[in-house]
Amino acid sequence: MLDGPFQTTNGPTAAETPLDKIDVSDPALFRDNRLWEYFERLRKEDPVHFCETSRYGSYWAVTKYKDIMAVDTNHQVFSSEAELGGITIRNQQTDFILPMFIAMDPPKHDEQRKTVSPIVSPDNLAKLEGTIRNRVCTILDGLPRDEEFNWVERVSIELTTQMLATLFDFPWEERHLLTHWSDVTTQENEVVTEEGMEYRRGELRACGEYFVNLWNERVNEEPRDDLISMLCHGEATKDMDFMEYLGNVLLLIVGGNDTTRNSLTGGLLALSENPDQYDKLMADPSLIATMVPEIIRWQTPLAHMRRTALEDVELGGKQIKKGDKVIMWYVSGNRDTDVIEDADKFIIDRARPRQHLSFGFGIHRCVGNRLGEMQLRIVWEEVLKRFPKIEVVGKPTRVFSSFVKGYEEMFVRIPS
Ligand code: HEM
Repeated sequence: MLDGPFQTTNGPTAAETPLDKIDVSDPALFRDNRLWEYFERLRKEDPVHFCETSRYGSYWAVTKYKDIMAVDTNHQVFSSEAELGGITIRNQQTDFILPMFIAMDPPKHDEQRKTVSPIVSPDNLAKLEGTIRNRVCTILDGLPRDEEFNWVERVSIELTTQMLATLFDFPWEERHLLTHWSDVTTQENEVVTEEGMEYRRGELRACGEYFVNLWNERVNEEPRDDLISMLCHGEATKDMDFMEYLGNVLLLIVGGNDTTRNSLTGGLLALSENPDQYDKLMADPSLIATMVPEIIRWQTPLAHMRRTALEDVELGGKQIKKGDKVIMWYVSGNRDTDVIEDADKFIIDRARPRQHLSFGFGIHRCVGNRLGEMQLRIVWEEVLKRFPKIEVVGKPTRVFSSFVKGYEEMFVRIPS
């Protein structure tokens, strides 16, 4: 058992599936939490694995830590360009390309990234810390005692939405729109009907129009510390067209939303499945510092990133051809025992807790990594000040996606 007591047993096991038929991109494996044994088999028997048929077409599954690093740090050969398919296993829709710097190669990527990076400078983070803490305290103080409630909705979603509204200086009462647009964006992987796609395009256009209004207000004001002001005054971003602005706004919304949200839920689940670690934490809250990166490794909120090969290249003894889709399975690299000791165990006081792939590597390494860590640290500091052990009640419901690895619902109870 690799991931606690909630693993389901439906479907053929990894050992029963012929190696060449293993398709780790099946979202049902993630929803049912049955992915682990498939990845374990690939890491052992076929670490750079060609999957010929899947709902997303053929792809290479890269499953070992070092091979993933080799791909992620070689943007000259492995491209993120939207027009080649972008950064998720499902190709971007060619009639609705959303240009965003996560799906660009240099030099444009580097210029745009530089423009938004100041939002997460150490100075700005220090300024944000007080605001985040106040919001965390208000949310936690409003939680019921001795009563079951959905942690995802009441804590994880609420907190990350408030956080995003702060970063954009977004109209406070309408902040739920940010969560909605984030959900609509990430649904791309699973929306397949023409009707569904049309709905998605319409919602995202409405998002773009809303943000254009905010741009028009701020472009005439002095530059400020919020993301929209930074984009409309930034040299590399001030002339973006509508789709490019929308693409980058959505990148910042999605980047800061699902990832932190699912780490907030996944951390509590991991502690509840490993009561010895929860005891250790209660006895010594200073362990939050090493626990936070361990939660991010353990959860791996983005299970993969995708690249497209720009030329023929060898990887792990396999011949990858120009144009092939290459999937870096961070979720698997993070359980690679050749690099991470006892990688299948959740250990909150690891010696090198930041040795993980959850933020990626290379030129696209997560811009918001310190911000995400800071949010988790504050939540756990405030939780430990207030509550005894929080109990997870029953099975969480997991997201049907092999990109966003997360939770729809997780019911908990806080004893008085
Ligand atoms: C636990 C929290 C988070 C995780 C696990 C995470 C994960 C990732 C990953 C895997 C990438 C791509 C890395 C690669 O391709 O090598 C990425 C990129 C990015 N993330 Fe995060 N992220 C988190 C939080 C945030 C937050 C809070 C923000 C900000 C507001 C953010 C903004 C971004 C942006 C803008 C990029 C694109 C960077 C680029 O292309 O240069 N992320 N993130």
